[in-house]
Order: sequence, then structure tokens, then C-alpha cells
Amino acid sequence: MRRASPDGVNPLFMKNLLSIKDLDKDSVLGIIGESGKMQKLLEARTLPKLLDGRIMATLFYEPSTRTRLSFEAAMQRLGGGVIGFADKSSSSAMKGESLADTVQAVSSYADVIVLRHDEAGATRGAARFSDVPIINAGDGIGEHPSQTLVDLFTINSEKGKLDGLKIAIVGDLKNGRAAHSLAHALEMFENDVVFIAPKELQMPNEICYELEKSCAVEKTDSLNAALDADIVYMTRIKREWFPSYQEYLKLSGRYVVDGRFLEKAGKDVTIMSPLPRVDEISNEIDGRDNAAYFRQAANGVPVRMAILKQILSA
Ligand code: NCD
Repeated sequence: MRRASPDGVNPLFMKNLLSIKDLDKDSVLGIIGESGKMQKLLEARTLPKLLDGRIMATLFYEPSTRTRLSFEAAMQRLGGGVIGFADKSSSSAMKGESLADTVQAVSSYADVIVLRHDEAGATRGAARFSDVPIINAGDGIGEHPSQTLVDLFTINSEKGKLDGLKIAIVGDLKNGRAAHSLAHALEMFENDVVFIAPKELQMPNEICYELEKSCAVEKTDSLNAALDADIVYMTRIKREWFPSYQEYLKLSGRYVVDGRFLEKAGKDVTIMSPLPRVDEISNEIDGRDNAAYFRQAANGVPVRMAILKQILSA
């Protein structure tokens, strides 16, 4: 499966995308550039059927709206077909089938598998049983590399650069796979990064240590540290990882970006989120230019088109 790209220009060809760390900086910048081209093609409605006759399987063992649907839209926009399940209750997992067996079978039906699972590391384990590339669409509290490529593309579109920014990442940084992958990706750039979370939900130390090699890193529990940021990346407190609803309530609702926050923050601050939001971004700011989270969600399609193109065509 791990063939080199014939002309050597496409380092992702037939490769898995399991962690953002699977990509070097050139590959990341290559995907961002390709995503820009895809966005233009989408806008002009002049889409090449680059993946005509190819099939993508989406195996989602955990809930999803944007990730699954934007992958499916991306594949269809490029002329490919889609099979899969959105809910493990409709799969043979309910009969006790192992992930390894499911992946082995599906890899004979599809050219690429997009897999979301509730266990960190599950997609890496599954990749050993697949004859086709696997894309990690979120593995428990592990990683979410395609979301990070959407995030980087969005930062670059909104700010015109990926260095020299102050980036505040806020919320559940212990359980947030999108935050983990974004923090890993920021190792490739030079920014000031501030992690804002209750101390129980702070970014794991090992991720911070790595990031400190290229970025100034601060940890705090105060949202005030985001007031002078260029990017405020909000994440929800992830109820599904708490032992009880009462424990969740103790830490939820603490950070809210609303009209009052925007009055105090820099006027060009960009508010991002992988979504879904619960209560951490007030609807009252949705119409403001600062609110980039629905533009970010829209970017999911061109970025995933670029990822699929690079993995499936040399
Ligand atoms: C995130 C996820 O599933 O990790 N959402 C997404 O993929 N856009 C974030 C979350 O669930 O809070």
C-alpha cells in the first residue's frame, strides 16, 4: 500500500493520515495551497472529476456532523462515490465484530477509509488491517488531523499568515482531540500560544513541552489572557468524557465569548471553533466579522477535497 508517488511530487499518495505529525511542514503547506485551488474551483463550479470511479468509506463509530458530511461532500464534488455508516448501531460492531475485521473487509470495497472511533489510537491499530489508506477522523481524546488542516487553512485565510500570531486555545484541552492536533501542528510555526482551561482540563504537559521548542507557551485558567489574541479558538467542554453530568456541570459554562468579550478584545480578533458549540460562543456574535467558525466549517469541504486528491491521485 505504501507506494511512493511516481513523480515524487505528492508525498501523501496512498499514505495514511492518522496524526498531524504524519505530515511535515511542506506537506501541510502543500495541502493548504491545494485547498485554496479547490475553493476557487468550488466557487467557479468548474470541478474536475479527479476521483471519478473511486470509492471512499466513512466508518463512524462516534457522532459527527461536519467531519463526515464534509468528507462525503468533498468526495462527491470530485466525482467519487461514498459508502459507509454514520452510527455503529447499524454496523456489525453490534454483533461483536472487531474493528480490525470490519476494516479488513471494507478495505476491499473502498479506495480510502475515513474512520472515527471512540478510542484514542484505534485508527492506528486499524490501519494495520487495511489495504487502503486510513484517515483518522477523530479517535477518542487522541487526534483529529483533518480538522487541524481545516483550522490552519482558516487561520491562513483569515490572517494571511501562519506565524507571528497570538493564538488562544480555550476550553477542554485535556479531552479535545482537535485542540491536541492543532497544538502539534503549531510546532511547525512560530507563534505565541496560550492555553486557557480550568486546571483539571489543561493541555497535557507532553504536548506543551514539544510546542515550547518553537512557540512561546502560556497556560492559564483566565479568559482575560485571550483579550489581546489574534485568534481565539473556542472548544466545548466535552460532556461525554466526564464520569457524571454533575462533574461536567462543575466545569462547564466557565468560558463564554460574547458581545462583551468582543468589546474588550482587539477589534480584529478572529473567533474560531471546530464546532459543535454548546454555550461557549454566544449566538449574538454570529453576524460579526470576527466570527469565523461557520467560514471554518465551510472550509471543511475544499480542505478535505485537497486531502482526498493528494492521497488518491499521484
Ligand atoms: C470536534 C470533534 O469531533 O472532535 N468536532 C469536529 O470534528 N468538527 C470537536 C468536538 O466534538 O467538540
